[in-house]
Amino acid sequence: MSENISSEFPNTFYVNDILCTRNLCPGNQVYGEALYKIKGEEYRSWDPNRSKLAALILKGCKFLPITPTTDVLYLGAANGTTASHVSDIATLGKIFCVEFSARAFKDLLKVADTRNNMYPILEDVFYPVRYGPLVGKVDVLYQDISQRDQLRAFIINARNFLKPHSHGILMIKSRSIDITKAPKQIFKEIITQLNDQGFKILEQHTLEPYTKDHLGIIIKSSV
Ligand SMILES: C[S@@+](CC[C@H](N)C(=O)[O-])C[C@H]1O[C@@H](n2cnc3c(N)ncnc32)[C@H](O)[C@@H]1O
Repeated sequence: MSENISSEFPNTFYVNDILCTRNLCPGNQVYGEALYKIKGEEYRSWDPNRSKLAALILKGCKFLPITPTTDVLYLGAANGTTASHVSDIATLGKIFCVEFSARAFKDLLKVADTRNNMYPILEDVFYPVRYGPLVGKVDVLYQDISQRDQLRAFIINARNFLKPHSHGILMIKSRSIDITKAPKQIFKEIITQLNDQGFKILEQHTLEPYTKDHLGIIIKSSV
C-alpha cells in the first residue's frame, strides 16, 4: 500500500487521513496507538477520542501555537497521553507536565523516561509558587483539569508563567463547573471572563463528537 502523508501544523501529519505525530521515541507506544513506518520515519496515530487536543485539531482549529521550539506548561497531564503528542511536536522545547494524582503520575514518569523533553512535576496546579522555580517562563500554557475552579487555575498560571503576548490552550469541561447549567451558557460565561481578564480569544471549538460538553479555547495574552 502506498501511504499518503500531508501536514497541517509543524510535526503533525495525516497518514492516509489519520491524524498522527512523528514518534520522538520510535518503537514506543504510549496508549496502544497505531504506529506507521514510512520512509524511515515512524508516525503515531493521535486518537481524538482519547486526546482533546487531537479533537480540537480535527474540529478545524486554524492555528496551533505549539511548534518544534515551544516551551509548554501542561496542567493536568494525567498519564501522558496528550502530553506525549505535545512532546512529539515540540521536539526542541520543554514540556513541563503538572499532575497531582500519584497514580497517573506513575504512568507519566514512565512516558517521560523515554522522552528527553518532558519534565513531570507532582503538584497541585492551584499552587504555582511551588513549581515556579522549576518552570520559569513558557510560550504556551495548556490546561485540561476538569475542575470546578478550572478558569482560576488557568488565570493564575498564565499570570505566573506566560511570556508576554504568548498563547494558551484551555479545555473547558462544563459539567465540572456546574452540572445544572447548559454547557452553552457556561462556555459563554467563561469566554466573557477570559476577555475581562485581558485574554484575546483566537478560536473556540466544541469537541463533539469526540468528547461531550467540552470547549477547546485558544487564547493570546494581551500583556
Ligand atoms: C481530563 S484528565 C487530563 C487528560 C490529559 N490532559 C490527556 O489528554 O492526556 C484531568 C487530569 O487533571 C488532573 N488534575 C485535576 N486537578 C488537578 C490539580 N489541582 N492539580 C494537578 N492536577 C490536577 C487529574 O488528576 C487528571 O489526571
